[in-house]
Amino acid sequence: MSDNYSSAGYSGSTKSSPTRVQWSTRMAFILAAVGSAVGLGNIWKFPYITGEHGGGAFVLVYLGCILIIGIPVMMAEIALGRRGRHNPAQGIATLAREAGAHPFWKIIGVMALLCGFMILMFYTVVAGWAFAYVPKAASGSFVGENGDTIGSMFGGMLADPIALTIWMTVVLGLTMGIVLRGLHGGLEKAINLLMPGLLILLLILVGYAMTSGHFMEGVSFLFKADFSKMTGTGFLVALGHAFFTLSLASGAIMTYGSYLPENVSIGKTTMIIAIMDTVVALAAGLAIFPLVFANGLEPGAGPGLIFVTLPIAFGQMPFGSTFGTLFFLLLAVAALTSAISMLEPTISWLTEKFKMTRFKACMLAGSLLWLGGLGVVVSLNIGSEWTLFGKTFFDMLDYLTSSWLMPLGGLLMAIFSGWILKKTVMQDELGLSSTIMHQLWLFTMRYITPLAIIIVFLNVLGIVNF
Ligand code: PHE
Repeated sequence: MSDNYSSAGYSGSTKSSPTRVQWSTRMAFILAAVGSAVGLGNIWKFPYITGEHGGGAFVLVYLGCILIIGIPVMMAEIALGRRGRHNPAQGIATLAREAGAHPFWKIIGVMALLCGFMILMFYTVVAGWAFAYVPKAASGSFVGENGDTIGSMFGGMLADPIALTIWMTVVLGLTMGIVLRGLHGGLEKAINLLMPGLLILLLILVGYAMTSGHFMEGVSFLFKADFSKMTGTGFLVALGHAFFTLSLASGAIMTYGSYLPENVSIGKTTMIIAIMDTVVALAAGLAIFPLVFANGLEPGAGPGLIFVTLPIAFGQMPFGSTFGTLFFLLLAVAALTSAISMLEPTISWLTEKFKMTRFKACMLAGSLLWLGGLGVVVSLNIGSEWTLFGKTFFDMLDYLTSSWLMPLGGLLMAIFSGWILKKTVMQDELGLSSTIMHQLWLFTMRYITPLAIIIVFLNVLGIVNF
């Protein structure tokens, strides 16, 4: 589709070319964006935060946030990226200048860069857990073990800073290696295998969960909304997770959008990405919660939830070691394709703004990320007592990004694209087939999204109560 590039994906050239690179096809973009969206957020984070916030009502709020905030914001973000044709900071600055708006708006891009960078600091550590579980599953460590043993296996891993650092370094090294080379056909091929593979394995796990005797208990935990269990924080976490799972307000989607050819329909593409992402998260929930109840575990067990429940299942089912190995391998690859999309915005900023080579940019960003990753590793064991406002470094990164930077970034993007830019700019970029659809999008951006985000913020700050 692009007249300049025949290879799939954006170029891995170490110089920034005068004609900006583009995805070769719409499919290349969809795969990359789905690769970014589907990751630890769906399989690791969604189940554990759902467990912590009481299930059904939380899931309903999360689905609502995807529908009325996530999807319209994603459309805006892809469109802003494509229109800006730069890294997030310079792209938004250009758009603000063209609209005659205050340079303040550049903050949207700056916050997004910062947010993606901060997430990546803990993402590489958690992705490392998935990598670490591949050899564990392959060597049959889970076979016949009960919840307690498997729980202490996970605890033992967290207590070992050296092992965690090694795995984090492996993940960061792979991420840097792929981003350094550019994606070409590699990412496309990886995701072509990954998505069906991941879905099939999740379905097998859902099938297994059906035989656990507690399937309906899991289903009702996930879908029976009991709002008495919802807290103000629950609303904020659900909202933040809608951003996190769709990779919004963190530079990833905007940067990928900046490589998108003109003729691709943003609306349809967004729907595909959001549907795939939601299906994977719900399948993960259906696979996990029945096992939680069948094994007498706590739904609110926290970040270790899937690293304890799923190994129990793998230890008991036929061919469990094979399925287990494949599952953690797929999870690791899904995490990698997300990690790549978190690093790319910073790299594009460093190469475009400071004219660094891709190599230098990767080395610089990689070194800082490694140090940050080390901080996260240490906060899980030797430094678990070092806290700020009761939060460890890991918790703090997660809290600041998902609960504040992302919703705030979303709010600013909604205002920027709904009120600040000229109406025709977004109309051109989104190219929605009917005016009604465009009006609907605009109405959502102008009123619904900002109001919803502001209400959730006010609620958490204790200014309004519901
Ligand atoms: N969406 C990814 C996931 O769910 C995480 C992510 C966040 C990726 C922000 C890119 C940017 O795992």
